[in-house]
Amino acid sequence: MKIPITKTIFGDEEKEAIVKPLESGWVVQGPNVAKFQNMFAQFTKSKYAHATTSCTTALHLGLEAMGVGKGDKVIIPSFTYVASANAVEYTGAEVVFCDIDLNSFNIDIKKLEKILFKEKNIKAIMPVHLFGLCANMPKIMDLAKKYNLKVIEDSACGFDSWVNNQHSGTFGDCGCFSFHPRKSICTGEGGMLITNNQEIERKVSQLKDHGASKSDLQRHNEKGGSLLPDFTMRGYNYRMTDLQGALGICQMNKQDYIMSGRRKIAKQYDLALKDIKHLITPKNFKNYIHAYQSYVCIFSDGESLENLTMDQIDKINIKRNIFMEKLEELGIATRQGTHAVHTLTYYKEKNKFKDEDFLMSYAADRLSIAIPVYAGMADIEFDYVIACFKKVLN
Ligand SMILES: Cc1ncc(COP(=O)(O)O)c(C=O)c1O
Repeated sequence: MKIPITKTIFGDEEKEAIVKPLESGWVVQGPNVAKFQNMFAQFTKSKYAHATTSCTTALHLGLEAMGVGKGDKVIIPSFTYVASANAVEYTGAEVVFCDIDLNSFNIDIKKLEKILFKEKNIKAIMPVHLFGLCANMPKIMDLAKKYNLKVIEDSACGFDSWVNNQHSGTFGDCGCFSFHPRKSICTGEGGMLITNNQEIERKVSQLKDHGASKSDLQRHNEKGGSLLPDFTMRGYNYRMTDLQGALGICQMNKQDYIMSGRRKIAKQYDLALKDIKHLITPKNFKNYIHAYQSYVCIFSDGESLENLTMDQIDKINIKRNIFMEKLEELGIATRQGTHAVHTLTYYKEKNKFKDEDFLMSYAADRLSIAIPVYAGMADIEFDYVIACFKKVLN
């Protein structure tokens, strides 16, 4: 049996929907993108939503719209996908890494406070809602207020993630989402920036469209469409296509099926993995609703996670990797959760980092294991996964 790490949920609706722009000829950012944006804004309860080519480009736009640039510093967690850091570098600003809390895989608030106390020229914080669990946004917003900082939420994994009934991406100045196939809802590639700030909305709308003061669709729908608009800022082409917009609408229409399906499998894992001491399951926190973009465990040999040493981490890492290889042989796809960005050659060499500089991120990199989760996972598939875990671990 082959069990993938996740599955995109595409059906006849998507097939029909993407043909329509081909027939009408309007394939660039147009009516479908507009509708997708509206649906997304409504779902997240945000005022504005702008579709982009990816979450990375949405993050770049958001940072630039908030005024982040050369001479500024932006704090990000050191355990995240490299795109969070890259987006900061695009602006010329400097990345300041903060270690994570291994219990949530999200930024460690105590360490964040220490950095804010010590570092100068911090302009913004970019919390990441990793694997679909919100970072501690109430505390982060308190700190942002105290230190007068901008907040851009990397919510690539955070669709349908909530804290105190508030959707991820709506706490800070803006929030950015990904629709890559590893994410819960998918448009091929694709991203979305949401904000309640009119100034940011206006800037993002222009920046994603070369700096144009009017979109193509607006121009075509108005008199005088034969003349190009003015370009009042240097922008980019980060526009989503209308084919992707059409996919996005379909995915929003079935988000309930997708998300409840993922949560159902997560619950089944919570129960089934209780007796498997080698796999520490994701924690649930009061007032947080986890979206399980990934179901990520920590591989353990029974040691306490509180005082892990490099030596211990490296030893367990070997066992985790063998576990993953054996599962692959049995047809089960797993992945390390994500990576510790400070250990990646570019950032490591640039900052002269040592792996142990952000120890919990290093541990998460070496010990995390994402296991298959997708809506519609059949009982026979689920049972096979659990049986293989037991077989390999025994
Ligand atoms: C935490 C995080 N941030 C940013 C991104 C980048 O998203 P995209 O591939 O849509 O640019 C990802 C994608 O995996 C991610 O996991």
